[in-house]
Amino acid sequence: MTEKIWHPCMQMHDTRQHPIITIDRGQGIYLYDVQGNSYIDAISSWWVNLFGHANPRIVRALTRQAQKLEQVIFSGFSHEPAERLSERLLALLPDALTKIFFADNGSCAVEAALKMCRGYFRNAGHPEKTKFAFLTHGYHGETLGALSVCGEALYRDAFAPLIVPQIEVVGPDCFRCPFGETRQACDAPCFAAMERAVAGNARELAAVIVEPLVQCAGNFRIYPPVYLRKLRELTREAGVLLIFDEIAVGFGRTGTMFALEQAGVRPDLLCLSKGITSGTLPLSLVAVTEEIYQAFYGEYAKQKAFLHSHSYTGNALACAVAVETLNIFRDEDALAANRPKHARLRRAVEERFGDFKHTGEVRSLGFICAVELVADRETKEPFDWKRRLGYQIYRKALTRGALLRNLGEIIYFMPPYVITEDEIETLADIAWAATRDALG
Ligand SMILES: Cc1ncc(COP(=O)(O)O)c(C=O)c1O
Repeated sequence: MTEKIWHPCMQMHDTRQHPIITIDRGQGIYLYDVQGNSYIDAISSWWVNLFGHANPRIVRALTRQAQKLEQVIFSGFSHEPAERLSERLLALLPDALTKIFFADNGSCAVEAALKMCRGYFRNAGHPEKTKFAFLTHGYHGETLGALSVCGEALYRDAFAPLIVPQIEVVGPDCFRCPFGETRQACDAPCFAAMERAVAGNARELAAVIVEPLVQCAGNFRIYPPVYLRKLRELTREAGVLLIFDEIAVGFGRTGTMFALEQAGVRPDLLCLSKGITSGTLPLSLVAVTEEIYQAFYGEYAKQKAFLHSHSYTGNALACAVAVETLNIFRDEDALAANRPKHARLRRAVEERFGDFKHTGEVRSLGFICAVELVADRETKEPFDWKRRLGYQIYRKALTRGALLRNLGEIIYFMPPYVITEDEIETLADIAWAATRDALG
């Protein structure tokens, strides 16, 4: 490793004990470091890789496009990969979403969506509508606008003086449900908090933003679709826009192409990124309704245009790779092929962790499976965070050949879709051995 790089989302002091691992190459679900050690990439390199590292189809698509056009300014210009990608995506999304606005990373898609909501109401003669409601434990990225709707204090609070405060609403917490409900049978009594927030802020509220079905960075809280159905109805009645952030859960992660399908509802704005290029290049977008698009459309002198751009907006290489990602979904019927693996992952994790005295809950949806470890299974009391148990498990798993990143005391599995059932078993073995090791 070099001392010259400041790495994200970690304490650099830890590198004194555990130096940064320099990865030389990736192949399928494996990463190989410069010493020749291999690691199962159990988190799809931050939830982005779908079809494996160095996937030959993706590499070919990238090479083909690189020989033609790598990048062009996206204001006033377009290119075939972006055009094909927009057509293909819109065909997969609810009919009411008719336009695609490109950006280049997840947080910036969220920034664009927030600005669109504000602009929509401003252009429609409602400049007072400037507020956003978000869920506790929601996570939408770490730029300042995205942090203003972040429900994770860990990421947000240090920057509070820089952030315009928005409206935090206590969201579903199915593992520690205060209403004593179960995820499978509940009618979301917790939704009353959202009803109160919308009613209490009716004049100023522009939009509500949520991650449908799974709050990934918020400790993989999985909640039932009924919450989303209620939210759609409420926001429609109140004249409030609804943003779905499917940056982490889109592109098959929850078992359907988009999580919104499981709730049978559509948002006014949908943010996508991460898996869109199968983890090859940064790309993001916001899909919006015609009504939102039209609110910005008009003669130049009316000054309604949506001004939000990034140098790499709609990058041609990224779009070409995204089209190929959709081709792989289609040609390999990836959603159907994944289904038995979802069940295997759940079973493999439950077989090891299910009866363990420190397992609070094993929860899963599609290719997301999380184990919440607790100090006391009965009371669900968490471990003292200063003990850094999750981090110890992450370290132990690395020495055994798996990259399993923890979120606090939650260990989770979000592998590339090309993982085999045997590899799932190996991964579960490593996680279990690492957990036992870490607990002494
Ligand atoms: C739901 C969600 N929204 C937004 C983001 C931010 O995306 P990015 O890291 O590309 O800025 C993330 C990243 O993890 C995410 O999980």
